[in-house]
Amino acid sequence: MLCFRKPQVEDGPSIWNLVKDSTLDLNSTYSYLMMCRYFADTCIIAEQEKEIVGFVNAFLEPDAKNTLFVWQVAVVESQRGKGLAANLIKRLLQAEACKDVCFVEATVSPSNLPSSSLFCGLARDLDTRCEISECFSADLFPGGKHEEELLYRIGPF
Ligand SMILES: CC(C)(COP(=O)(O)OP(=O)(O)OC[C@H]1O[C@@H](n2cnc3c(N)ncnc32)[C@H](O)[C@@H]1OP(=O)(O)O)[C@@H](O)C(=O)NCCC(=O)NCCS
Repeated sequence: MLCFRKPQVEDGPSIWNLVKDSTLDLNSTYSYLMMCRYFADTCIIAEQEKEIVGFVNAFLEPDAKNTLFVWQVAVVESQRGKGLAANLIKRLLQAEACKDVCFVEATVSPSNLPSSSLFCGLARDLDTRCEISECFSADLFPGGKHEEELLYRIGPF
């Protein structure tokens, strides 16, 4: 059975491991600990038998508290395609910390079809629009190996 809860600092290493096993950019362990400690109210994890099988790391944008920026979302491979990522975001939107939220933003690289489908599907389910615009161009990422990141803005809802 799946259970959903806010992350705690102790969940940081497992979230880091889940990201390491995914196609997402792996950030420092510190960044995941920081999210768990300082942004827990706008993050959510799904657990199955004490194992983290999915999470959403997000925060309210400092200049627009009605906008939830979804920084990273990942689901373990065995649980993908069952609606878990969409469910995690929808549950997070029900949290007290998100009571004023009417927009969701996230950046997606053009080749990440699952992620694009996730956010377009969220807009459809919330009966609203998904506007896609330029955000971080490829030349902003040193090394020349990173795709551009497009901004998906979902709302209002
Ligand atoms: C992106 C990711 C989180 C989706 O998780 P998931 O639980 O499988 O997604 P859901 O089952 O909730 O599906 C949401 C939508 O995306 C679609 N989708 C999911 N996987 C897909 C795939 N591989 N190809 C195309 N569409 C896909 C679903 O069909 C669904 O669309 P629908 O509502 O129109 O039916 C998961 O693939 C993942 O962890 N990927 C690696 C990390 C990543 O890229 N994260 C996103 C960037 S922050």
